[in-house]
Amino acid sequence: HFKGSADFQAQLPGVFFYYDLSPIKGYFQPDVGGETIPVAQGELSDLAGDEPLFKALYQWFLDSGGVYKLAFGPKAFIVVSDPVVVRHLLKENAFNYDKGVLAEILEPIMGKGLIPADLETWKPRRRAIVPAFHKAWLEKMVAMFGACTQETIRSLDSLTADGQGQTDMEEVFLSLGLDIIGLGVFNYDFKSITKESPVIKAVYGVLKEAEHRSTFYIPYWNIPITKYIVPRQRKFNADLAVINACLDDLIAQAKQTRQADDVEALQARDYSKVRDPSLLRFLVDMRDADLSDKQLRDDLMTMLIAGHETTAAVLTWTLFALLTHPSAYAKVLAEIDSVLGDKTPSIEDMRAMPYVRCALAESLRMYPQPPILIRRALADDVLPPPLNGDPSGYPIGKGADIFISVWNLHRSPHLWKDPDTFRPERFSEINSNAAFNGAWAGYRPDAQGSSFYPNEVASDFAFIPFGGGARKCVGDQFALLEATVALTMLLRRFTFQFVEGPESVGMATGATIHTANGLKVKVQRRSVESSSVGAEAQEIALTA
Ligand code: HEM
Repeated sequence: HFKGSADFQAQLPGVFFYYDLSPIKGYFQPDVGGETIPVAQGELSDLAGDEPLFKALYQWFLDSGGVYKLAFGPKAFIVVSDPVVVRHLLKENAFNYDKGVLAEILEPIMGKGLIPADLETWKPRRRAIVPAFHKAWLEKMVAMFGACTQETIRSLDSLTADGQGQTDMEEVFLSLGLDIIGLGVFNYDFKSITKESPVIKAVYGVLKEAEHRSTFYIPYWNIPITKYIVPRQRKFNADLAVINACLDDLIAQAKQTRQADDVEALQARDYSKVRDPSLLRFLVDMRDADLSDKQLRDDLMTMLIAGHETTAAVLTWTLFALLTHPSAYAKVLAEIDSVLGDKTPSIEDMRAMPYVRCALAESLRMYPQPPILIRRALADDVLPPPLNGDPSGYPIGKGADIFISVWNLHRSPHLWKDPDTFRPERFSEINSNAAFNGAWAGYRPDAQGSSFYPNEVASDFAFIPFGGGARKCVGDQFALLEATVALTMLLRRFTFQFVEGPESVGMATGATIHTANGLKVKVQRRSVESSSVGAEAQEIALTA
């Protein structure tokens, strides 16, 4: 159904079209086994234009259903937008899938880090890394988030010294996110809010290349000679060398000062006295730790990349959504003023700000980061029937490539009322999304699993901002707490207004959803009645 067009291929985010460009290996597998899956009807030219790919996949979802296939020549990939099928892929039969195309792209950058890792590498690493994200550490991190946000406040203060300034908040959030992830993961202060360093430049260079690779359809970087002749390849390798030297140094220092202990003892450390609370310290100090430099470096690099842009993107789109929805913005501010005042938030404060938490969740629903998750079948499987699809399900073959469209799932008209409307209140409305075909229970805020933010458990896989099942994000709580601290402290102290209006912001994709032109805003110091500071925590009614 699809005729390749250079224009179209060049703008495909996260998709790699390859026809007969041998000897370069194509990313996708031939169409295997999915004969009964509906094939989306359309032409590639339907996709051409300024729209990001995930938006085009949405139209086909509406036309062709929760499981459909895009075929091009002998190759194909399956697009999944249905909670029952997503639950099967992420949870019920998760070990039948690996990261396929994504692993191939990320391997040169993250090696065998947790995100791209094959199952055999993944199992012991996941077991080692999860305990490092424990409660006392998260509490320590929350204090660090506050200190880093203070630094951002100082820099915005100098910008607004004459009353009002202008800035690109997407960039501000990226700097803040980088400083936070550097400190959290390896106790390294990038100080990117206040300065530029060769390491920061190299990190941005590598991130840019990761993005380029996930939007370029020919994996030319797999051809050995390109690393000498293609300028961006040379730069990429030089950037990687700078970061690796920095990481190797930090790893060596951590090893020199290693104090091995049991996991329980490490978790019970008095974090008010711990000088280096980083994940690296924990991973090195764990008794029986895997201390190979390569594995540690891959894990650190993975967390640096996974935790930086994602959180910055969440903050960017949350601010965008609030600026375009004044009534939600007003409720968020009222809650911040009444619960927090000028304090640096603690975890308890965040518990007392349900509307802020729902606003962040709503931003993650409408702008999921990343908008598409990628899988490849390791063996034949049968996808369960989607909510309104063929009741016999869909057999697929080993090697089948699958895109889980989180964007489609989160904007499905079958699951969400007014899916394109930003409405944080929806997360407090029990079973408001009415069972669809009796198979899906709807969102249940009373069943939120271990998190006090809305999650995939409460929504039975209709809301998966951090994935779900075995390969769910390990940094979900870290990221949500970070976003809440940064958002509340900044909104308390500054007012923001679009410089040119919401239309000028635009949308583009890479690994996460970016703005096309930055989130350019006018910033002003906010004057708040001191009487609201320190006021009793007060729940804001979540219903509209
Ligand atoms: C995995 C989202 C922040 C580390 C994932 C996945 C998603 C996600 C959707 C699942 C990918 C898949 O199933 O293919 C996010 C979002 C974040 C965020 C939206 C910010 C708001 C972080 C942070 C860290 C992190 C801060 C680390 C400090 C990871 C790792 C994995 C992962 C290591 C792989 C887990 C595994 O395969 O076992 N993330 N993430 N993420 N994330 Fe995050």
